[in-house]
Amino acid sequence: MPALTRGAPLDRLMRPVHQWVWRDRDRRLRKLLTFADVETDGGRDILRAAEVTPDPLLRRLYLEHAIDELRHGDLFRERGAALLRVQQTRRRVLKSGNPLPGGHGLDDLRIDGEPDHRLLAFLHVAEKAAAGRFTIYRKLVDDDPPTRAIFETILRDEVFHMNYTYTQLARVAPRTYRRHVWHARAKRLWNRYLRVAAALAGLIGSVVLTVMYFVVLPPFAWLARRASRKEPIGWTPIASDRPASPRSQY
Ligand SMILES: [Fe+2]
Ligand SMILES: [Fe+2]
Repeated sequence: MPALTRGAPLDRLMRPVHQWVWRDRDRRLRKLLTFADVETDGGRDILRAAEVTPDPLLRRLYLEHAIDELRHGDLFRERGAALLRVQQTRRRVLKSGNPLPGGHGLDDLRIDGEPDHRLLAFLHVAEKAAAGRFTIYRKLVDDDPPTRAIFETILRDEVFHMNYTYTQLARVAPRTYRRHVWHARAKRLWNRYLRVAAALAGLIGSVVLTVMYFVVLPPFAWLARRASRKEPIGWTPIASDRPASPRSQY
């Protein structure tokens, strides 16, 4: 897999960011615990796929795949826990106070009602991306041999998942398998775009509101303060020509 030994072009572009994440012990720990959740979550989804598929061969392969993903989750969790113990003996607490992730935020699999060819195309694209990324991460944790060993083990499994999903996709949809892969790629790209656009919209919204707070609001605050200076202080007598008030408001 020559492409995998270097990672996807976008991941190679993001290498400085990956480096920044993996260099710090706290960030590394949080990333491992996030991966643990992502892998376990993926394992459960694929287990569900094994339950609902009508294809006996796919059921067996999905089952093996799910077992692999659940094992990956355990490997990441155990390594994260080991690093956490080392951190705690050093400092008692982590910088952030809560090292656990709030959710993986990646494309969740929808299993029920999805045909096998769509699921296989999605899995193939996702596994290929994961294999490329783990290739990069493996190099970035050279200073941490146990974590590197985990990435190497998982990388072998991900390459197997990537290959079997492609082979099975070609079996269940021999005429249209390429189109399904492109469709899955486009959908993944679109979801990625939506995530970036939502984050950017949040950022732009915060900037615009901050600018409005400091630029638009001050003149109104100044006018309100000036108007309040003209108001008499305290109780004011009621004008004698004002109509009498009702006996009851009800
Ligand atoms: Fe995995
Ligand atoms: Fe996988």
